[in-house]
Amino acid sequence: MAHTLDVEFARSQFPSLKSGYLFADNAGGSQVTQASIDLISDYLANTNVQLGADYSVSVASTQRVLSAAEETRKLFGAASTDEIIFGPSSTANMENLARGLEPDIKEGDEFIVTGEHEANGGPWKKLAARRGGVLKYWHSSPTNPNNPYSLSLKVEEVLPLITSKTRLVAFTAGSNILGSIVPVQEFTKAIRADAAAKGVKKLEVSIDCVGYAPHRRMDVKAWDIDFAVFSYYKVYAPHASALYVRAPALADSVTSIAHHFLPAQHAYKLQPGGPGYEIVYSTTSVIPYLLSLTPASDLGATFDAIEAHETKLATALLKYLTAPEQYARGIRVVGVEEPSTDRLPTVSFVVAGDRPMRSKDVVKVFDERGGMGIRWGHFYAYTLICQLPPPARDDDGVVRVSLVHYNTLEEVDKIIGVFKEIFA
Ligand SMILES: Cc1ncc(COP(=O)(O)O)c(C=O)c1O
Repeated sequence: MAHTLDVEFARSQFPSLKSGYLFADNAGGSQVTQASIDLISDYLANTNVQLGADYSVSVASTQRVLSAAEETRKLFGAASTDEIIFGPSSTANMENLARGLEPDIKEGDEFIVTGEHEANGGPWKKLAARRGGVLKYWHSSPTNPNNPYSLSLKVEEVLPLITSKTRLVAFTAGSNILGSIVPVQEFTKAIRADAAAKGVKKLEVSIDCVGYAPHRRMDVKAWDIDFAVFSYYKVYAPHASALYVRAPALADSVTSIAHHFLPAQHAYKLQPGGPGYEIVYSTTSVIPYLLSLTPASDLGATFDAIEAHETKLATALLKYLTAPEQYARGIRVVGVEEPSTDRLPTVSFVVAGDRPMRSKDVVKVFDERGGMGIRWGHFYAYTLICQLPPPARDDDGVVRVSLVHYNTLEEVDKIIGVFKEIFA
């Protein structure tokens, strides 16, 4: 049975939403639940010691960190907490991963990356340069001949880039600009089959889930991928990131970058029945919050309900932006134009035509109005932004409205109301 999202209940869990401020820059970072704030405060107040010692506070602290690894395992759909690594940001996690992979890279190895967030491409670009590897770009291309900005990734465009020397393919599950949801399982299957046919011995697939994780359920096992990353600060929790490294890659590809690669889990396994093992804290906040959003208490049901609600939000916004009057005014959606459940409520556009407007000037009106936050810029997807036709420019980028499940249709109407005044 499909469950409807109780948006009012969801909103009541976030202290910042009580102010009535309209948060519409969620792809840059979500709001944080009260439960998450309480857990962080309690950790710092009561268990802020080094992990892995035998004294009781350290045992409790270790248990809390390990339970966060278990929560993260579930969110990724990973097989084991041994495959979970924490870091300060996804950018840092990906750079650490590339450093850890470095000894396994040979001269001539080829890396295929997409032109989206630099966190996904930059570490491989630098690794290829350090090891005499080759970097290739898998660019997004238009889906609508009448809109050169209607970019999306197509699997048939990566296959010609694959050769017998392809070592790694890195792409994004959900674009932080285009709003597209990439069918990771289907693309990975096609990439692996093509690579195998071309004689590739070792291919690893890395997925940037940062834009995807707040909206849809990850499933690294079903996707058949080796590496994935997401940022907790976009999933209703504080600024931290989680990296998934599949067990065979931990054994055969990744080497320790200093004294160990994995932080807590390997070094500090708690022994069942050992000291402190019986201490039970409520130590995680993201899964309990997600489970509380529908009566089913099931992650799949929650993400289905989130998908249904977010599709309504994106549909309302896209309907306005793609209407004939807006098309005539020069508004062009950057990314997926058609509303569907295969689209995130991350909506970007530019104002082209004979009366072009800079993205920063559109956003300025919102800032002057106050009480709401949307954003303009390149969002660290420089390669993608530089690919856009004029008047898009790398020092201006796109206007982006990025919503999540706690946003409402009334808020979308309010945003559209401001657009109507700007584009009148
Ligand atoms: C799609 C995407 N990938 C990667 C990142 C980088 O994440 P972090 O800020 O945790 O380094 C972001 C951040 O905005 C993002 O939107």
